[in-house]
Amino acid sequence: MPTILAIESSCDETAAAIVRGTAETQAEVASNIVASQAALHAEYGGVFPELAAQEHVKKILPTIQLALSEARIEISELDGIAVTIGPGLIGSLLIGVNAAAQLANLTKLPLLGINHWEGHLYSAFLKSDQDSLPEFPILFLTVSGGHSSLILMRNHFEYELLGSTVDDAAGEAFDKCARLLGLGYPGGPALSKAAAAFRSSDQSQSETKLSLPRPMLDADNLNFSFSGLKTALRYAIDRGDVTLPADQGLAAAAVEDAIVDVLLAKLERAAKKHNPASVAIVGGVSANQELRRRAAERFPNVIIPQFSYSTDNAAMIGAAGLYHFLLKQDFVSPETITANASLRLA
Ligand code: KG4
Ligand code: ZN
Repeated sequence: MPTILAIESSCDETAAAIVRGTAETQAEVASNIVASQAALHAEYGGVFPELAAQEHVKKILPTIQLALSEARIEISELDGIAVTIGPGLIGSLLIGVNAAAQLANLTKLPLLGINHWEGHLYSAFLKSDQDSLPEFPILFLTVSGGHSSLILMRNHFEYELLGSTVDDAAGEAFDKCARLLGLGYPGGPALSKAAAAFRSSDQSQSETKLSLPRPMLDADNLNFSFSGLKTALRYAIDRGDVTLPADQGLAAAAVEDAIVDVLLAKLERAAKKHNPASVAIVGGVSANQELRRRAAERFPNVIIPQFSYSTDNAAMIGAAGLYHFLLKQDFVSPETITANASLRLA
């Protein structure tokens, strides 16, 4: 079975993984190492690009070594190397790309340049809680810090963009609203934790609810818009409808409800229109428990990769790399491979 070393360094996680499989099976993860810098960036309230690149330099080799040793694999047993080439922060991307290129140069292993977005899509092909491969055509809701879109994948490497956000991405909306509520960074997990605590408290019954807009919910298209949400929240805080920190939980639950409502309504609209064989939700925001719970109610067979494959990781890059290796063999030379901060999905 072909075995791929995958490297991901597009933002603030230095990640390496060993993935193997065949075209007929789910991609198996032999190791999946993520060195997160989230704590370092927290004091800046967001990712600080120079600091991210510096940290990648420190962490990249130990992370690759750990991925190999945890999988009990020698470099000589690898069949290929896959690395994220974009989109992302250019300084961060370059550290991973250079490491992969040098390793490919030394070992003469085939090298694959992977789009980070394609990686998120291929997280649905990783062996996870579901035990079968998704079937084409697959309808994807991809939701992360930089991206919210609906994509129809008719076959391997064939993507049709059905709709996307016209302003903020869903993760960005989580992060910005969390900041308004004083919930810190990274905002998505902090906000959903506050929302969950509120829902399971007695308060959730007695308090009057904060109602937030659901932009584009009824619009006859498959696009999203989330920037109005943070504006509405800011007005509610300014008007005194929300008092902080007392109403943190109540407001967090209202934000989460609004975002999940819109995401699932559009996913449902797309599913009705395109009648896919499988439905999958991928990207950092798919780590959200409320989204997972409500998505599973509406789409009983929905594929949502396990938590560790939702937020940025190298296993998903390994899955995309594996299928490129098996089906396309579109290898790149270590001399010419380049990072592209604004790479798009073909
Ligand atoms: O995919 P990802 O790790 O990085 C990008 O490619 O952007 O996604 C990060 C985004 C952040 O906006 C983060 O707040 C959000 O995913 N996120 C969450 C949760 N965990 C991560 N949003 C809501 N609920 C969560 N539990
Ligand atoms: Zn990502």
